[in-house]
Amino acid sequence: MIAQANRIVGTIVLPGDKSISHRAAMIAAIAQGTTRIRNYSPSEDCSATLRCLSALGVRIEAGGADVIIHGAGRAALRSPAGPLDCGNSGTTMRLLAGILAGQPFECVLTGDDSLSRRPMQRIVEPLEAMGAAIEANGGRPPLTIRGRSQLAAISYNIPVASAQVKSCVLLAGLFADGIVTVSEPAVTRDHTERMLQWFGGSLTAGQDHISISNESELVGREIHVPGDISAAAFFMAAAACLEGSDIDLPDVGINPTRSAILDVLGEIGADVTIGNRREINCEPVADVRVRGGLRQRDERLVIADDRTTALIDELPVLAVLGTQLSAGIEVRDAAELRVKESDRIAGLVTNLRSMGGDVTEIEDGFRVERSRLRGTRVDSFGDHRMAMALAVAALIADGETEIDRAECVDISFPGFFDVLESVVS
Ligand code: S3P
Repeated sequence: MIAQANRIVGTIVLPGDKSISHRAAMIAAIAQGTTRIRNYSPSEDCSATLRCLSALGVRIEAGGADVIIHGAGRAALRSPAGPLDCGNSGTTMRLLAGILAGQPFECVLTGDDSLSRRPMQRIVEPLEAMGAAIEANGGRPPLTIRGRSQLAAISYNIPVASAQVKSCVLLAGLFADGIVTVSEPAVTRDHTERMLQWFGGSLTAGQDHISISNESELVGREIHVPGDISAAAFFMAAAACLEGSDIDLPDVGINPTRSAILDVLGEIGADVTIGNRREINCEPVADVRVRGGLRQRDERLVIADDRTTALIDELPVLAVLGTQLSAGIEVRDAAELRVKESDRIAGLVTNLRSMGGDVTEIEDGFRVERSRLRGTRVDSFGDHRMAMALAVAALIADGETEIDRAECVDISFPGFFDVLESVVS
């Protein structure tokens, strides 16, 4: 049960970035030598990645926030004893598929009910073009991948803006007989490119494409994973909505492909300060402070096109925030939200309406008018970002809110509710 709050105040220690953690572990597993990953994400998703890598014969020492991975090179993975369970994690399945396409053995990738409904044809197509044989269940998991140690080099225009698809093809490119080039319809997060560079990979980025070759050896490195800006977004949005809030978020990743949320919050009147900028393992990091208060605007906040891609994981909490804006919010070009851990468009519409929100569902997005929310019982649908967005709604709403299946926050942010309680006042 979460009650209405006046403000949130304090310092928030964030989990390590989930996207960066997955990539660090997978690339370390096929690099030569030892990698220590500090502040590895404690999320269930990132644990699934480690479990899969262990099952592929990678020696991993995990204890506390540090993970040590003993990589033995690209050819050292071993055929697993059984199917690899990716749990709820689309990133685990799609990125690992790229690496498995380049292995001379057969492998089955499975996932939970949510992951089993998610589209995989988007990775099957390029991996088959490179020479892997893949069976999927009508384009969905489970995936049976029959890889080969040398794949064909391709040039691929990715039809959907997805960092997971881009990363899958780039990782498969490490096993190709030439240069693999990808281009994407909108710029997506570039953590794979940065992490490969950190490990010594040969990548070149042009205006509208990225190329990779398997020329250089990947070598184990020290890595520090910055705090997850998509986890921070829930607290930043709550702080923005609750006047008098003041939160410090030390050590947050502010990669420009992820940090659009900071610009949006600034645009609507929150006081966002970014200090102590630095770069760690090719990733920009900073200490962020957000002080609350929204500036009332005559114009609706519209998120569309490339901005939608840049904010893809922040859209659930922005929908909640839209209820506090005088002219509301409209999100378009966000059809991808329908194939996330849940159909986030339908789920947001259902939940916000039941809290008294004035919401219109559109095919590829939603419109939210300014509305007064009231606490009630809502459903996360087992989707971690839905649960955390609803927790922010609960802080704004009159009365108390109960979130069903709220434990799913563990998928990206174990301890989320404790952190929230510690800053509410
Ligand atoms: C992710 C990419 C995005 C994002 C997901 C993590 C990644 O998914 O929504 O939470 O780590 O590459 P898509 O690639 O499907 O857009």
